[in-house]
Amino acid sequence: MQAPNNPTQPLLTHFQMGHLRLKNRLVMAPLTRRRAGKGNAPVDLNATYYSQRASAGLIIAEASQISPQGVGYPNTPGIYTNRQIEGWQKITRAVHDNNGIIFLQLWHVGRISHPLLQPNHQLPVAPSAINPGEELTTPQGKKPIETPRALRLEEISGIVEDYMQAARNAKEAGFDGVEIHAANSYLIDQFLHDSSNHRTDEYGGPIPHRARFLFEVLDAVIAVWGSNKVGIRLAPSGTRYGMNDTDPVALFDYVVTKLNDYTLAYLHLVEPMLPLDEYPHYLKEVNKHYRNIYKGILIACGNFNQEKGNDYIGMGWADLIAFGRLFIANPDLPRRFAFDVPLNKPNTDTFYNPGPTGYTDYPFMNK
Ligand SMILES: Cc1cc2nc3c(=O)[nH]c(=O)nc-3n(C[C@H](O)[C@H](O)[C@H](O)COP(=O)(O)O)c2cc1C
Repeated sequence: MQAPNNPTQPLLTHFQMGHLRLKNRLVMAPLTRRRAGKGNAPVDLNATYYSQRASAGLIIAEASQISPQGVGYPNTPGIYTNRQIEGWQKITRAVHDNNGIIFLQLWHVGRISHPLLQPNHQLPVAPSAINPGEELTTPQGKKPIETPRALRLEEISGIVEDYMQAARNAKEAGFDGVEIHAANSYLIDQFLHDSSNHRTDEYGGPIPHRARFLFEVLDAVIAVWGSNKVGIRLAPSGTRYGMNDTDPVALFDYVVTKLNDYTLAYLHLVEPMLPLDEYPHYLKEVNKHYRNIYKGILIACGNFNQEKGNDYIGMGWADLIAFGRLFIANPDLPRRFAFDVPLNKPNTDTFYNPGPTGYTDYPFMNK
């Protein structure tokens, strides 16, 4: 059966993103599923999962660590070894064979890690030695986060170089572009916020200093890919893992305004996921605020459904909508929207479990 051409659904219209023509406005959000194989390398099961979802206008593959130091959870994939590159090659081939487009999200977790996950059981690194005071999952179960080691000034350029090498590796792996993960309390976000960055050198203090690391990473990745194949993800109202800032609006207004100097593939903004009553100085409607500031292509994400996604695009508040949990449970999400059929419900118990259950076994709609 042909999908009906439904002009009342802006989500189902084509979109030109740089040189890439997206077949619809649905983006599969980056989703950690913790099903990588030996050596944190992608395996055939991951290729099946992504190829099942190739009808998305764009897939942003799950956060993938740029170095062994960037690891923060068991069984998440990396993009720093040959084995990992070869694993990803199978995935990009499978997605391209199904007419899909796929970017990779580049990740360094900073302090959201544990010595049990680090090379030689070293302390995780961060802009400053500040403990967010929460727990995380290690190979030996839940453990409190340990106070990280503050990066020495001379180490920072090495991490920027790791991003650049990871960007080269992503190219070799056959991706169509990359997304820099600057959201959700990980290393770049830790540099941005003044609760996690107490540095007194040129990477701390005033907003332009705290944003320096982000723009150095961006320049390095763009040197590999060209700006129109590079996206960036920000969470201006993110408060997980102890993220806080005395003036988040000024911070992210500065960053987003400066991003206008680049012709990026897109800016991907995460709407707040938690009630912000305790944080009245954070924005409740991130995309509407930044639509007025950012001149390029905007992706909105966070608690969208079909109706809200169509509204947002129809009103011009975003160009593309990323769906996370709905794409976990509905491999054929664009088709389900096209036919207005009920959606499968995501099962949170299997988000991070190994194996195909809750991963590749969600049913497609009946033809
Ligand atoms: C299981 C799971 C894994 C996630 N992994 C990532 C990730 O790797 N990178 C990232 O930037 N966000 C990640 N997120 C956040 C999602 O990309 C998205 O922002 C969030 O799920 C909100 O969108 P939704 O309401 O459509 O699910 C994850 C979310 C879930 C539920």
